[in-house]
Amino acid sequence: MLITGAGGQLGRALAEEFPDAIAISRLDWDVTLPAPAGLEADLVLHTAAWTDVDGAEEDPQGASAVNVSGTGNVAALCSSLGAPLVAYSTDYVFDGRKREPYLESDGPNPTSAYGRTKRHAEAAAGERAWIVRSSWLFGPTGNNFLRTMLRLGAERAEIAVVDDQRGCPTYVGHLAAATRAVLELPFGVWHVAADGDCTWAEFAEAIFAEAGLDCRVRRISTAELGRPAPRPAFSVLRSEKGAPALPHWRDGLRACLARLT
Ligand SMILES: NC(=O)c1ccc[n+]([C@@H]2O[C@H](COP(=O)([O-])OP(=O)(O)OC[C@H]3O[C@@H](n4cnc5c(N)ncnc54)[C@H](OP(=O)(O)O)[C@@H]3O)[C@@H](O)[C@H]2O)c1
Repeated sequence: MLITGAGGQLGRALAEEFPDAIAISRLDWDVTLPAPAGLEADLVLHTAAWTDVDGAEEDPQGASAVNVSGTGNVAALCSSLGAPLVAYSTDYVFDGRKREPYLESDGPNPTSAYGRTKRHAEAAAGERAWIVRSSWLFGPTGNNFLRTMLRLGAERAEIAVVDDQRGCPTYVGHLAAATRAVLELPFGVWHVAADGDCTWAEFAEAIFAEAGLDCRVRRISTAELGRPAPRPAFSVLRSEKGAPALPHWRDGLRACLARLT
């Protein structure tokens, strides 16, 4: 088994879940280039990606090179090896106008450059692939909302957090474990995100409560925050096809905090 993006938060969690896998980083293979000679695998878990959502607005071609061409190069390797592929995708392929959970049969309509590259990446993964869409990933390493809140919450008495985007914060350890069950399912798109849902402000409050940090959350709107990339206002993911169910996001939060302390 080969894991790309080994230095990323999901890549690390997968490397823990599948300790016999070969986990490779950008230094081993920059996926914008064809695969180096000598890579062998029966299965590829592809997590390497451009994940800077705002940065993708400024450099959509750079994001596309990693997410679309990169996934194409990984799919080409899989095809030459006869190996199936797990390609991780995102709730940001949806426009967020729905007010009920997004199901696998819902049509994507990404509103950001990042979301568009991930939508094209899903197509580039080919037919012998599981497309695992998840959302709002967090883990004990890397850049994520949980780690940012822990840092800011220790420094400040109050922090402004967006309260008009709703999704499913998903612990990478839970997603990595669920990947095992996905491998038993037919190829295709699967929604695999934490149970429950919340806004970023609610998630921040839960983080401070669970971590015992005395920091108030001031609820603001997406417009007030003024980030470059549009984000879906509502991107709760659920499965209509029997994808593995994940624990509640609050259990994921507790599991992650337990890892950090
Ligand atoms: N983060 C989220 O909230 C979220 C939500 C839903 C879905 N996803 C998807 O889940 C997957 C994993 O996300 P993540 O949060 O684990 O991302 P991450 O922590 O940003 O890790 C991505 C990894 O990809 C590597 N990478 C970037 N460009 C590369 C290239 N050209 N060649 C090889 N490696 C490259 C990065 O290496 P460097 O450190 O060297 O840049 C990094 O280690 C991605 O497909 C992402 O789109 C993420």
